[in-house]
Amino acid sequence: MRSRRGAARGERPALLLVNIGQLLTLRSEISGPRRGASLSELGIIEDAAVLCLGGKIVSVGRTKDALRDPWVKKNQRKIVEVDCRGRVVLPGFVDSHTHPVFTHPRLVDFEKRIAGASYEEIAEAGGGIRSSIEGVRKASAGSLAKTIARALADLSRHGTTTVEAKSGYGLSLESELKSLQSIRTAAREFPGTVVSTLLGAHVVPPEYRGRSDEYVDLICNEMIPAVAKRKLAQFVDVFCDRGAFTLEETERVFATAAKFDLGVRAHLGQLTETRLGTILRYDPASLDHMDYVNDRDLPALAATNTVATLVPGANYFLGLARYPNARRLIEAGVAVALATDYNPGSSPTVSMPMAMSLASTQMKMSPAEAIAAATINGAWALRLAGRKGSVETGKDADFSVFDVTDYREIPYWFGANRCVLTIMNGAPSGSGDFLGRDLGQR
Ligand code: NIG
Ligand code: FE
Repeated sequence: MRSRRGAARGERPALLLVNIGQLLTLRSEISGPRRGASLSELGIIEDAAVLCLGGKIVSVGRTKDALRDPWVKKNQRKIVEVDCRGRVVLPGFVDSHTHPVFTHPRLVDFEKRIAGASYEEIAEAGGGIRSSIEGVRKASAGSLAKTIARALADLSRHGTTTVEAKSGYGLSLESELKSLQSIRTAAREFPGTVVSTLLGAHVVPPEYRGRSDEYVDLICNEMIPAVAKRKLAQFVDVFCDRGAFTLEETERVFATAAKFDLGVRAHLGQLTETRLGTILRYDPASLDHMDYVNDRDLPALAATNTVATLVPGANYFLGLARYPNARRLIEAGVAVALATDYNPGSSPTVSMPMAMSLASTQMKMSPAEAIAAATINGAWALRLAGRKGSVETGKDADFSVFDVTDYREIPYWFGANRCVLTIMNGAPSGSGDFLGRDLGQR
């Protein structure tokens, strides 16, 4: 590889990716998230090149044209050139649903489930979400930030360049603020993009047992105002399901979030079916899980830009035979995204390619649909589609480079990480010393 390391890290040098075998641009004429047939349109350019300046994409085209470009010729010495040697390049994944603020893996729950206990039985026996609370409450903000930073690095090594990160294991005013502050600290050192979400409404913590109304008061009267004042989150999330919060409680939290100009999203239909009722009035950016959804709600959902974010890693890890019915959602015109749901209880994976592989094998999404759901529709789920999710002039220079020659190999080689380079806001980072090495050598 020809590599000119002209600029120090942080200066965001001009970057030219050349000899891309397949560039999946995900560009489209349609406005709004991808639905139906448009979910399969990847906008592939072969033998492609992309030029980036100041962390933004400035041109997208063929390699031969890029190398003839007068500006490129004149500034050759200042440009960091990455020879992709026929590999596949796509927009960095947008993982729109993660819970990275926790201290311990939940190994006892893991064993109990293997022995036959259900998610709800484990929760009732003192495991589940509540068993992650103590660790977070006791941890210092600094140690949480280190853990989150490690998760962000792991996610990016698997091709993710934008991460939504939720609080939700502190469940007191102080610990939720500490969790979000830790996300902010970790995000500062991360070259990619982090979107923060307050998930104070994850479950009712033990000290409020039987008093969920009072806990919702705490969320609405103290957590949301404090988070808004400190600008610690862009979204507020609620786990709306049996054993967590009701639809009425969810709407109370959403109404308060709206007053403070925060976006909203919910975990919905993971364990039981909840009719959407009036929830779409709050314009949620996404409704996540959606294992159980009533057919009669699909037309109303399809008429909005609310994204149904499917997280098959949770179904896999919980050992469920049933997966969300992606085909039914796609055929109804609902905008579908994929995310990891990275968390210590139901989905300890940082791998979007694994989520995509599960989407293909278990939910019958084609590889092309899985890619669009993991990129451009993930960006819609975070209301970031103006900047993220496709390779188009003016968008952020976020890419992943996979050591494959056909995009269908990304969900195909499950369990192995074929991502060899990620570029986040114009900054390349590989797992080895990629920029000093020939990408052609494996
Ligand atoms: O998305 N459903 C609620 N929250 C997580 C589970 C978190 C946990 O078990 O710690 C989920 O699956
Ligand atoms: Fe979740």
